[in-house]
Order: sequence, then C-alpha cells, then structure tokens
Amino acid sequence: MGKSSKLKTKNILITGGAGFIGSHVVRLFVNSYSEHHIFNLDALTYAGNLENLTDIENKENYTFLKADITDADKINDLFAEYQFDAVIHLAAESHVDRSITDPLAFAKTNIMGTLNLLQAAKNTWKSKLHPSGGQGALFYHISTDEVYGTLGATGLFTEETNYDPNSPYSASKASSDHFVRAYGETYALPYVISNCSNNYGPNQFPEKLIPLFINNIIHKKNLPVYGDGNYTRDWLYVIDHAIAIKLLFEKGKLGETYNIGGFNEWKNIDLVKLLCRQMDKKLGREKGESEQLITFVNDRPGHDLRYAIDAGKINKELDWKPSVTFEEGLSKTIDWYLANEAWMQHVTSGTYQTYYRKQYTSEEGE
Ligand code: NAD
Ligand code: TYD
Repeated sequence: MGKSSKLKTKNILITGGAGFIGSHVVRLFVNSYSEHHIFNLDALTYAGNLENLTDIENKENYTFLKADITDADKINDLFAEYQFDAVIHLAAESHVDRSITDPLAFAKTNIMGTLNLLQAAKNTWKSKLHPSGGQGALFYHISTDEVYGTLGATGLFTEETNYDPNSPYSASKASSDHFVRAYGETYALPYVISNCSNNYGPNQFPEKLIPLFINNIIHKKNLPVYGDGNYTRDWLYVIDHAIAIKLLFEKGKLGETYNIGGFNEWKNIDLVKLLCRQMDKKLGREKGESEQLITFVNDRPGHDLRYAIDAGKINKELDWKPSVTFEEGLSKTIDWYLANEAWMQHVTSGTYQTYYRKQYTSEEGE
C-alpha cells in the first residue's frame, strides 16, 4: 500500500474515549479539528469516566455515544446512522492483572469487539473502498508493545519483531491486531496500527503501577512491588502518545505498523524510588519516608521481564519524539493527582458511575 489516507474526513469515531489514553486523544482531536465531528463511543466500564472530558463536553463538534463494542447490532446501527469516515479504536480491557483473573472478558471485548467494529466499517465503506488504498476512510487500531512478548537484558522491539504474547491481555491485543491486518489484506480495508509502550499521566485508573503507587503514597499505604522489582518498562507521557496518534491519523502509511515509545527504560524498583523521592519533596515529608512503604510481594504469573521500543520509524518518518523528560512528566503527573484528589476519590468509590453515566443513558433512576 504505502500511501497515507489523505482523509477529507467529516465524522471521526473514537472508541474508548472516556478512558485514560482515549480521553486525551478525544480532547486533542476535538480542539484541533473544528471542521470534523468527533464521536466518542464508550461503554463506561469501571475504567471509563466522563469526568475526564468535562472541559470539552459542550463543544459543537463533540458527541458522546454510550455503547458496548461487543453489541454488534448496536455498532451496526451507529455506523448506519452516522456513516463514520474514520475509526480510531482504543476501547479495550487494558489491565494485565485483570486478564489473569478473567481472560474471557478480554477475548470478548478486545477480540470480538474489534471484529464487530471491523465488520461495521467494512460494510459501511464497501462502496467507497478505493482499489489503490481507500481514499477517505481509515481504521486506526491502537495497540501495545506487549504483543511482542518479552525481551531479555538487551535488544529493542521493532516493527519487524515477531508477535509472541505471554499474558491473556497481550494475546487478545495480538489477536485484534491480526484481525485488523487480515481485513486489510482480504477486504482492502485501509488501516494503520500503532504499538505503544507503557503510558503514564493524568486520568489513569489507579490499578496501574504509577497512579496506584501515587495514591498509596498519599495515604501512606504499602507499595506492592511484584517479585524482585527488576522488571523493566519503557514509559511514555500520555499526551505525547496522543500527539503521535494524531500524526499517524494524518500521515501514517496505510497498511503499516508504527512502534511508539518513550526512549525511556526504567526498572520498576528504580522508578518507584524516584516516585517516592519526588512525592516526599512535594508532600513536605522527610527524605526516604515513602521508600519505607515499599513491600516486595508475590510475582505476577507470566511476568514479562522487559519491554523496550525502537521508535525510530515514527521518529524518522514523522519527526515525532517525546516532548517531556520522564522526571518532568512524572512531576506533572504527581501534581495532577495531588490537585485532583476528588477524581481519585470518585473513581475508587465508583461515584462517577452513578453521577456521570446518568446524564447520557436510560440508566436514570438506577
Ligand atoms: P483504559 O482501561 O483506561 O480505558 C479503556 C476504555 O475503553 C474505557 O473508557 C472503557 O469504558 C472502554 N471500554 C472497555 N470495554 C468496552 C466495551 N466493551 N465497549 C466500549 N467501550 C469499552 O485503557 P487505556 O490505558 O486508556 O488504553 C486504551 C487503549 O490503548 C487500549 O486499547 C490499550 O490496549 C492501548 N494501550 C494502552 C497502553 C497503556 O499503557 N495504558 C499502552 C499501549 C496501548
Ligand atoms: P502495569 O502498570 O500493570 O502495566 P503493564 O503490566 O502493562 O506493564 O505494571 C507495570 C509494571 O509494574 C509491571 O512490571 C508490573 C509492575 N507492578 C508492580 O510491581 N506492582 C503493582 O502493584 C502493579 C500494578 C504493577
């Protein structure tokens, strides 16, 4: 394929836009593209929170659609009604630990949900799929570096690395990537896939390492480090991921995959110690106080040793690189959580599920 979609798009569907990464993508798109209409489709699971988007919810080019991607009829109806020109698909079950206890939920949402969207897109775009590469339509799948499995002490994941997923989460994401590619090969569906490393930043649900530990440090609760803490992840500030997604939406070559990473590897234990140091300063605590909360606990089964991304392709082709250092990004993230304790309180108590969901659904009076 090799050409970008040159979209003259009108209706852009973003799935999972009430979640962590999706909310930053929705905000960026709504504020950047007054000529396009942005539809945010989300089932509002425990991870979806419309409180993440209160600043843009009244914009004229924004509509929220409450729907579950596993409901094929509903998805088909919405495509028929709104004739989406492009899909940016982020909706997913996203936490490895949950996938270990409930793998079927991950297969249902991440594989079957993606297939429902692919089918609806294929059927809607049938008449306008262009033999030389789908002018005017794009299915952009947001995926993870975890599909590549684990690295040893050296090496980097490139776009050519074989898929070798180890957790039910990564297996479900790998499967959905394969289906997207298969729809490209079989039905000429114009697509782009990006595989990104671990994100961090505002609005991340406190089950993932960084927000969980920020919350625990605030409340002087134990910091449960899995195993010996010598596992390595490559961390990217979420807004830099959103910027990369916008670039690939505009200029990504159809039928291609792009790795996105932070050029920023940290062993978990070193990251946790940095977090403790930064938080002690901000909270006016004694140096070393929060480190005493570190508790080594049983390891995660099938725990991948190391992820690290070679983001050279997007860097060379589209001149993208992270805009903040890890120390800056982490500091901004801590500041956000300290300034938004009510958000944390709502998501941990589930308040938003009863308050914000009510405004959009027939769940009134639940
Ligand atoms: P998240 O868990 O914060 O948000 C997921 C969103 O999807 C929520 O708003 C949720 O309500 C919605 N959703 C879940 N199931 C749904 C369903 N059946 N129908 C409709 N909506 C549903 O996830 P995130 O961390 O923002 O990740 C977003 C995407 O990016 C995922 O596809 C994930 O695999 C990918 N990704 C995440 C990371 C990361 O570090 N968080 C890194 C690389 C890729
Ligand atoms: P996580 O944020 O769950 O992301 P992922 O599993 O997708 O990489 O975990 C990041 C790393 O931190 C991973 O190596 C597991 C580890 N971890 C802990 O040590 N303790 C925790 O409580 C959590 C949630 C994660």
